[in-house]
This record gives sequence, structure tokens and C-alpha cells, in this order.
Amino acid sequence: MKLFLDSADTDAIVSRYQTGLIAGVTTNPTLIKKSGREPQDVYNELIKTGIPDISMEITADNADEFFSRSMGHVKTYGDHTTIKLPCSVDGLKACKRLSDLNIRVNVTLIFSPAQAVLASLAGATYISPFIGRMDDNSLDGMKLINDIKNTGISSQILAASLRDPQSVSTAFALGADICTVPVSVFDNMYKHVLTDKGLEQFNKDALDF
Ligand code: E4P
Repeated sequence: MKLFLDSADTDAIVSRYQTGLIAGVTTNPTLIKKSGREPQDVYNELIKTGIPDISMEITADNADEFFSRSMGHVKTYGDHTTIKLPCSVDGLKACKRLSDLNIRVNVTLIFSPAQAVLASLAGATYISPFIGRMDDNSLDGMKLINDIKNTGISSQILAASLRDPQSVSTAFALGADICTVPVSVFDNMYKHVLTDKGLEQFNKDALDF
């Protein structure tokens, strides 16, 4: 069981990474754009912090381009690199070539068990079902995790597009190996009104010793 942060906000990531509870980071072009920084600046800062596993999304028009751009990232960022490729014909062709070279690939934008099977056959280390986006479209995101688990694929299931703490525990219970969460969801995982209430009472009573 591992928790990743789904963000390109380096300050926010670094402070949460210092908890020792975070094993990696996933990014995408939208998150990088939102950070207002160049992808290489984001990746370099995360690497400087020691984050071991960073999903870096590659955009390209064909499999050869996906492959050569991915190899450029591996050369620059070394073992911190997980190549993130879409679940398209070209993305999976490139995935196969990269995984044959023992390069970690995260196949993203997974919305069906059939896509997960193909990505696993292409050697993906991780496959990323987008739970929240399924739910946004009146589909059952959590059932997808269970259905993928039941296929018996060898890739690790990286549950993505999770929007609240409850979804994280449910995703793990249904068979996710990793959950990637926005920083706000990670922060909310600590919180419970009864913890606050209990703590307030214990602190008060401790003062009375
Ligand atoms: C996963 O790798 C994606 O970056 C992410 O989880 C997408 O989440 P969203 O649907 O909230 O944009």
C-alpha cells in the first residue's frame, strides 16, 4: 500500500513529503500548467527533495515520438522517472518498448478493465484508473477498481482522480495498490471531528494533573 501526491505544487509537495508518508508524485500537463512553471523546473525540484518516483506525462503524435521523448526524460531524470503515457494505440506501443528496457511506465486515462489488460500486456508498471472522472460521468469508479483487480493483471493499480479521503480507503479496500491524491485530500485524511474533540479533552485533563 502506497500513497502518492497528485500535484505539481512543489512547496506543498515538499512539506507533505517530510511526513514520511508519501512514496511518489504524479503530475500531468494540466497540473504543471496550473503551477505556472516549466515541467523541468518542477521535476528537478522534486528530485532535489529526494522523491523517488515521479510520473512525468509525455505528449506526442505517434509511438516513435512517445518513445524518443520518454528516453530523453529517462536520460535526464534517471531512476526518479516514471513515464506516463496515455492508453492509446501509440501510447501502448511505446509502453511495450520502454518496459522491455525495464523503464517504469504509468499508463494513464484508464476507464475500462479491457484497457487495463492491454496496458498490463504492454508491460506497464502502473495503470491509472480515473475514479472521479468516472463518477463525474455517472459511471461507477470504485467498481472499476474491483473489476480491474479481478482480471488478475500484473501491473499495479494506481487509483487516480480521487477527490476525498473516503474514496482513498475504499480504493485500497477494493484492491488498489497505490492511491494518488491532491494535497488537500491528503491533509483531510488526518482529520476527524471526534479526534479533535477527544484531543481537546485530553489536553484539558492533562493540565489538571
Ligand atoms: C492522475 O494521474 C491524474 O493526474 C489525476 O488524478 C487526474 O485527476 P482529476 O480527474 O481530478 O483531474
